[in-house]
Amino acid sequence: VSVPDSSVTIIGASGALGFGLAVRLAAAGVEVTIGSRDTGRAEETAQRVLVAVPGCAVNGLDNAAAAAAHELVVLSVPFRSHHETVVQIGATMRPGQLLIDATVPLAASVGGKPTRMLGVWQGSAAQQAQELVPDGVTVVAALHTVSAAALLDRIDGLRCVDAGRLEMARITESLTALMIAVNVRYKTHAGIRITGLPDTLR
Ligand SMILES: NC(=O)c1ccc[n+]([C@@H]2O[C@H](COP(=O)([O-])OP(=O)(O)OC[C@H]3O[C@@H](n4cnc5c(N)ncnc54)[C@H](OP(=O)(O)O)[C@@H]3O)[C@@H](O)[C@H]2O)c1
Repeated sequence: VSVPDSSVTIIGASGALGFGLAVRLAAAGVEVTIGSRDTGRAEETAQRVLVAVPGCAVNGLDNAAAAAAHELVVLSVPFRSHHETVVQIGATMRPGQLLIDATVPLAASVGGKPTRMLGVWQGSAAQQAQELVPDGVTVVAALHTVSAAALLDRIDGLRCVDAGRLEMARITESLTALMIAVNVRYKTHAGIRITGLPDTLR
């Protein structure tokens, strides 16, 4: 899939991860549209991004309108509302768009432990999303090892590593639970580094 990376929609950007991502992308010169269940909250979040990155290009829309606004759409919501959110944005998405799903099926999203994963029939949140979006929309699972705190603070040397087919999301999504367990134990914001990659990815 080839999509322009000069503009992006973030569904759930009033939350921790989505907001950090919005600020990072806006600071990098990307036009950002904030999607929310509530238009007022979307506009208020866009204002917060503007305060963090004066002069950046940012606006706020309800989820359905935001999902149609750009070719690239990031989804960052609690798993308990993942199904209904994907159905809602799927109604306005079109073939050729790319949905980057950061949602993690943590048990915490339904009152359980943040270090436990929920079983998802499709295998992962991202695979559930792929089942629900219109044909021609590509789903990628990403950002599971990036903490909201690090996005707002530092992000040196971060790059994408392609882990293969979408079914790998079952493993990458669960890395969030692993990171939470490590971070609680060591009271830090630890990350994960993959070593031995080709120079072109370094
Ligand atoms: N935080 C992290 O560091 C981190 C790291 C890796 C992965 N993740 C994953 O990324 C996703 C987002 O994480 P987050 O910490 O940003 O989540 P969050 O702050 O709890 O929620 C993000 C946004 O989701 C929207 N939302 C939709 N349905 C909701 C509901 N029923 N209850 C509450 N909010 C709802 C809200 O936006 P509106 O009210 O504006 O619609 C909310 O601001 C999660 O699946 C999480 O597991 C998070």
